[in-house]
Amino acid sequence: MDNEIKTVIAVKNIRKEYVVKKHFLTGKVQEKVVAVKNASFEAKEGMTLGIVGESGSGKSTMGEIAGGLLKATFGSIFYCGKNTTEMSRDEYEEYRRNVQFIFQDPKGSMDPNYTIGDNISFPLLTLKVVNNKDEAGRLVSEILEKVGLDDNIKNKYPSEISGGQCQRAAIARALVVNPKVIICDEPVSALDVSIQAQILNLLKELQRELDISYIFISHDIGVVNYMSDTIMVISKGNVVEEGAAKEVLLHPKETYTKKLISSAFVK
Ligand SMILES: Nc1ncnc2c1ncn2[C@@H]1O[C@H](COP(=O)(O)OP(=O)(O)O)[C@@H](O)[C@H]1O
Ligand SMILES: [Mg+2]
Repeated sequence: MDNEIKTVIAVKNIRKEYVVKKHFLTGKVQEKVVAVKNASFEAKEGMTLGIVGESGSGKSTMGEIAGGLLKATFGSIFYCGKNTTEMSRDEYEEYRRNVQFIFQDPKGSMDPNYTIGDNISFPLLTLKVVNNKDEAGRLVSEILEKVGLDDNIKNKYPSEISGGQCQRAAIARALVVNPKVIICDEPVSALDVSIQAQILNLLKELQRELDISYIFISHDIGVVNYMSDTIMVISKGNVVEEGAAKEVLLHPKETYTKKLISSAFVK
């Protein structure tokens, strides 16, 4: 059907075990943490899937697996219908380029020894989206304007700008390679409340303009609700509830979800 919304990423039955202790001689696994027990979810074109849960529930692990930063112990990731483990090298690169990330700590995610302009140019040059530094510079200027930053910020270092400006720059760096999906992992949790709404609204405007899909991760169900079409509630590595954002917020089925909601609104 033509009017059906396309699934960009489909994560199917993933499990993730982190090995935390191995025998020093035999290498045999002695202790592991199961961060994700079983999870399946989809990111749809132009839509936002929110992932919400307490700290340590497995949100970041799920996001990193969806975008290829981490390998799942079991389970599959499909990008545009194709299993990522069955991709050619070119297809895999295409998948990785099309799925970008924004993290909680924008300064930590920038190389402090390079200017903001250089930081945004790196993916363009390494992924060969452009042929030279001049071309990269033009694209960087275009994208800075899109995220509401002044062009002269190009020449500043991450330590010279505010947290909110730096998160805008991180958004610019994610956008510059023209991705289909951005995985936003607690993107406003480290920012002042007054700046949070600006960043969330910027992400929404960009989505409307560019039809990007977001996987939006936060421990704060209020923020997730504001951003998402669909919400997935997770606890201890399992999906406990999933549905349309309004439905989950107004008619939560699970006690865990009800607790998340009451703790978000009684502050
Ligand atoms: N690299 C790692 N090695 C061992 N355990 C980890 C690692 N990363 C995360 N964990 C554990 O996995 C669980 C889920 O972590 P995470 O996905 O970061 O949760 P969240 O993002 O919801 O806070 C936690 O118990 C965490 O301590
Ligand atoms: Mg996390």
